[in-house]
Amino acid sequence: MTLIDQHGRRLKKLRLSLIDACNMRCPYCMPEKPVFMKKDQWLSVKEVEDLVSKLLSFGIEEVRLTGGEPLLRPDFLEIAQALSLLPLKSLSLTTNAVHLSQLLIDLKKTKIRKINISLDSLQRDMFKRLSGLDELETVLEAIFRAQELGFEVKINCVVMRGLNHTELLDFVKFSSTHQIPVRFLELMKIGVMARESAHQYFFSQQEMKEIILSQHTLTLLKSEQDSTSTNFKVGSARIGFIASETDEFCSGCSRLRVDATGKVYPCLFKDQGVSLRGKDLEEISQILNIIKDEKPITRLPSVERVMHMIGG
Ligand code: 5AD
Ligand code: SF4
Repeated sequence: MTLIDQHGRRLKKLRLSLIDACNMRCPYCMPEKPVFMKKDQWLSVKEVEDLVSKLLSFGIEEVRLTGGEPLLRPDFLEIAQALSLLPLKSLSLTTNAVHLSQLLIDLKKTKIRKINISLDSLQRDMFKRLSGLDELETVLEAIFRAQELGFEVKINCVVMRGLNHTELLDFVKFSSTHQIPVRFLELMKIGVMARESAHQYFFSQQEMKEIILSQHTLTLLKSEQDSTSTNFKVGSARIGFIASETDEFCSGCSRLRVDATGKVYPCLFKDQGVSLRGKDLEEISQILNIIKDEKPITRLPSVERVMHMIGG
């Protein structure tokens, strides 16, 4: 059975959050005093494996592991290994890369090929201010190491006015020097950013392009229909824009989201999830049939739910 919603969108990608905790404190994601779930609320390795294998029978083909910070789970490797045995088209990872380096050799033996790394600044002070950790070097090392080992690495950079927007051209240069695609994200109105601060820091795709166009030419590249980013070649750099506020991509969305406790959400902007934990195929089928039609077709204005619950 495949999941096709009332607008004809086929759901085939799963964003699976393994943990809501994180070692970073990115201002757009973490509230000042985050409250994390208890470890015993996380799906176990077995439960993750079991749930994903059931979701395969509904047409899920690709899984991206996310968090919070997924590598903070002590059993992360076991999860990656277990999921690697399932007939998935792709298994990928989103991480802040602080704990990535030491795992890479083992990850090479799993199905994970694509790694998206969050990196909002190339300057030590700004990196520290934005993430709360003085780990720029560690992250850069992990990025280069992953690339050397043959992983497909992409960088995600959330652009914020007055904070890191002055680094756009540095990131373009970084992309061309290291041959790593960089995607610039508009700040989304989610969680801590759902209210006033979003306006203060918001930096639009249009503004980003203007800065880059002042020095470079952008050549549009072809993207998948359900891609969140519009991608360009800029000299030998590859850059993309994820403009969820000014150029939404909901109409092509093929994603389902599951949090670390096994609750499924139709959309990042929906704060009500339904638990799939311990459910059999028939029950899951009923839940997914309802959930899929709750997927909005255009961007909902904002959501107060904390982002670290469900990942990027
Ligand atoms: N706006 C844009 N991107 C966000 N992310 C998290 N919160 C937001 C937000 N409010 C994305 C970032 C981060 C990833 C884990 O999730 O890209 O790197
Ligand atoms: Fe951690 Fe990612 Fe949230 Fe930053 S965006 S605090 S790295 S979960």
